[in-house]
Amino acid sequence: MRAVVHDRYGSPDVLRIEDVEQPVPEADEVLVKVHATTVNRTDTHMRAAKPFLWRFRLGLRRPKRRILGLEFAGVVEAVGPAVTTFRVGDRVFGMRSGAHAEYVTVRETGVIAHMPEGMSFEEAAAVCDGATQALGPLRQAGVGEGTRLVVYGASGSCGTAAVQLGKTHFGAHVTAVCNTQNVELVRSLGPDEVVDYVEEDFTRSGETYDVVLDAVGKLPFRRARRALRPGGIFLATDGLHNLPLALLTKRVGDRTVVFTIARPTQEDVLLLKQLVERGEYRPVIDRIVPLEEAAEAHRYVDTLQKTGNVVMTLNGRPS
Ligand SMILES: NC(=O)c1ccc[n+]([C@@H]2O[C@H](COP(=O)([O-])OP(=O)(O)OC[C@H]3O[C@@H](n4cnc5c(N)ncnc54)[C@H](OP(=O)(O)O)[C@@H]3O)[C@@H](O)[C@H]2O)c1
Repeated sequence: MRAVVHDRYGSPDVLRIEDVEQPVPEADEVLVKVHATTVNRTDTHMRAAKPFLWRFRLGLRRPKRRILGLEFAGVVEAVGPAVTTFRVGDRVFGMRSGAHAEYVTVRETGVIAHMPEGMSFEEAAAVCDGATQALGPLRQAGVGEGTRLVVYGASGSCGTAAVQLGKTHFGAHVTAVCNTQNVELVRSLGPDEVVDYVEEDFTRSGETYDVVLDAVGKLPFRRARRALRPGGIFLATDGLHNLPLALLTKRVGDRTVVFTIARPTQEDVLLLKQLVERGEYRPVIDRIVPLEEAAEAHRYVDTLQKTGNVVMTLNGRPS
């Protein structure tokens, strides 16, 4: 099967498309023929091994796993003898490392579910990563009915998901912060307020909030804290400097930094399927590219300018 592989860490130039051995499902696994996947920030972090800490997980000198990719949507091609939930021909989506390949094996109990009714493979592939990056922190901060929540970087994958989920699933009062050119798109996601960061610095408006989520990794705590009420929480999604700040602010001061690493589960993907089917969440897609353009897609994601998600198609495009 064809896959995007890399044998060393670095720029998108380290990526190439290669024929590799097709995986064989274990007794409790399904084999998925992947029709769409995404290129996201986790993929680019793993490709570059940045921050360096990634190397302790991925391999110190070179990547132990050659195939990148996390999100997938496709069709079940084969099932192991112990599998009961999925059948050959089912349309499925979810998360599994090694998804930038024509086939991937996934545990029946892994991050996989049947695709939402009426959704294309391209859309389904983009449902999970940004949304689970948003769900974890919002849960950890105890966001709920009426919480005054700011989503900074509201036009990215995590940001577009956080705006929608913050409103529909958590019932928060959502203020979305984005660039001028994304204001209309972000407004269409249903926040209570949109702030154009080119025109206005929300941290200097005098308003205060319960929770500020930095969904792009660009907002320093020292700025965010100005917009937090005493007892407020800053949710960081990136930046190792936030780890010591999280420890420190637990003990000192009246505003807390929380740094969460998303750990998606099957319950999450089932929840997202429900929210999609109820019209409460829809992934935003920036562009759809074929597998052959994987390196260019990485270059684009590296710019931190994508709007929502970059989807990559494989194995043709079935209806
Ligand atoms: N550590 C990890 O392994 C890991 C893995 C995956 C994700 N993450 C983190 O999770 C977060 C979400 O990632 P993502 O894929 O959702 O992000 P993303 O889609 O790459 O975010 C891009 C968006 O952010 C906006 N943006 C860029 N610079 C900005 C700034 N200075 N102020 C406000 N908005 C800005 C861009 O629009 P404009 O430029 O037009 O504003 C763009 O729409 C990031 O912090 C990422 O680092 C971490």
